[in-house]
Formats: sequence, structure tokens, C-alpha cells
Amino acid sequence: MRIVTRLVTRLAGAIAGLAALGALATAQAQNYPNRPITLIVPFAAGGPTDIVARIVADHMSKTLGQQLVIENVVGAGGTTGSTRAMRAAPDGYTIEMGHMGTHAAAVALYPKLAYHPIKNFDPIGLAAGTPVLIVAKKDFPAKDLKEFAAYVKANSDKMNAAHAGVGSVSFTSCLLLNSVLGVKPTAIPFQGTGPALNALLGGQVDFMCDQIVNLVPQIQSGNIKAYGIGTAERNPSLPDVPTTKEAGLPEFEVSAWNALFAPKGTPKEVLDKLSDALSKALDDEGVRKRLLDLGSDIPGPDRRGQAALNKLVESEIARWTPVIQASGVTQ
Ligand code: MLT
Repeated sequence: MRIVTRLVTRLAGAIAGLAALGALATAQAQNYPNRPITLIVPFAAGGPTDIVARIVADHMSKTLGQQLVIENVVGAGGTTGSTRAMRAAPDGYTIEMGHMGTHAAAVALYPKLAYHPIKNFDPIGLAAGTPVLIVAKKDFPAKDLKEFAAYVKANSDKMNAAHAGVGSVSFTSCLLLNSVLGVKPTAIPFQGTGPALNALLGGQVDFMCDQIVNLVPQIQSGNIKAYGIGTAERNPSLPDVPTTKEAGLPEFEVSAWNALFAPKGTPKEVLDKLSDALSKALDDEGVRKRLLDLGSDIPGPDRRGQAALNKLVESEIARWTPVIQASGVTQ
């Protein structure tokens, strides 16, 4: 009898403990955020992911009443920063701006990847679609995409292409370009396409594939050449740049995206507050103008939110895995 009483007492204690923990978590979620939030950008400052992160973080800070502090954690094509984010406490105070590379292509490129985009992350929401362009240094000897392709094919052993590390958007989309053209130029890694663009402006590298938000001002001022954009339609911010289909390379159809993620296990109430703040940012006129001027594609309500992002990640893993496997490139 005494044993049963002791067991019942212990069980009651455990249940009370769990209830208290649950109540604490709810209180914490209700009180969220009560201090600044770290937003990990897994690439160098000044590049496309950093640009999108800073534009939405500004407005989200106002909505949430706490600063979103950008921390650039670079390396390994963005997987270093993503691993840091995955390992952070799931309390909403560390989130990440991931993208098509870190949260899709990396799965096939890194067989020993420390995280899985769906199993180890909770989605917050899509921030911006970022079409990818084929660009080259100002004095690249080709007037259009056809001549570019012919020149690269004829000189690929002398060509070098910049990228932001294995697993990045610039690496993955140029992997597709190289397989379409049947070439293997020398790949020059940088900590992001911010610094890679500087090397292109300086003529230290010949070409790269990059996200539009990093390129619009330099293309508009003629400091670099743009041969084609990988979307079905031309982009309003660059009306003179043909689609790759128009320019004769329909196989190069690529549009990247940047999205917010939290470590798996982040309370639902906290995720909802972050998703709501992101959505409010994307509805704000000032935020929209900054993103649209840089050629972003702002997701409509049907593409926002947690479930839509999970669907996108699943479809992008399915899209890029065969491309990467066919290239034979893995880390
Ligand atoms: C960056 O912000 O530098 C890019 O997103 C890098 C890339 O993925 O190409």
C-alpha cells in the first residue's frame, strides 16, 4: 500500500511539474519578445541575403518592439551559419535568413550535412523571391548570351567563375549553367556574392550567376554585363535584360528565394508572432518599394506563412537534387 501511495505522489508531482513547465513556456511565448533577436545571415554583409534580411528586419523590429540584430556567420556555402542556427535554443531569440541553397541544394551537395532543412528547422515564412542572372565583367568579349556561351565553351579552361561557396545559390545555379554549356570553368569561392561582386567589378573574375537584389544598381550603371535572367518574364527593374529563354538558353531557368527559419521546437505562438511580423513588413509600402526596386518578387498571401514555406522547401529539394547528382559534385 505504501509503495502505491509513494508512486501516486511521485506521479502527481511529475504531472504538476510538467504543467508548471507548460505554463512557463506559454508565459514566455506570451511575453515574447522581451529582448533583442539575433538574425543569422549565413553570408557576408552587403550580399543579397544580407540585403533582404536588413530590409525586412528593420520593419519587423518595429512590429515586435525588439531589435532584430543581424549576425553574419559565414562559411561552407552558408551551411556554417545554418548549422549555428539549427543548434541555437528554440526560444525565438535566434532565427536565420536561409535560402534555396542552404535549405534545399545543400541537402544533395553535402551528404554529411549537420542539419535537414525540414527536420531541424521550423519555417517562419518566405521573405522574397530573388531571380538569378548570368552576369560578367564589364569588358567580357560577348554582346549577348549566345556569344557568351560560345566564348565560354571555347575558352572554359581559361575562364573563372565566382561563387559564394559550395551550396550557395551562385554555386548551385552556375552548376546548372556549366552542365547546360558542358563546361568546367575554374570556380572561385567567396564568403558571399557581396565580395564576389567586388571582384567582378574589378575584373578579377570573369562571370557569375547571382541573385538580382545584389546586381540591379551595377547593371543599371553599366559596371557589369547582364546576359540573361532565369525567369519566365523579364524583370521590371531591368527591362532591357532578356530572359534566358528569349536569349537562347531556355534550360537555364532559375529563381532563388530567401526565407526566415527558426530552430526546430520553437513555440508555435512565437513562430506565429514572427510570421505575422514578416507578413506586415511585406505589406509595408516602404519595404515593398525597396524590395521591388531591387527586382525582388514579393510573395503574395498564398505563398506566405509556415506551411507554404515547408512546401517550397520540399519542392526545391526535389528540384535541385537530380541536377546536383547529375553534375557529380558533392562535398
Ligand atoms: C549572399 O548573400 O552572398 C548569397 O546569398 C550567396 C549565394 O547564395 O550565392
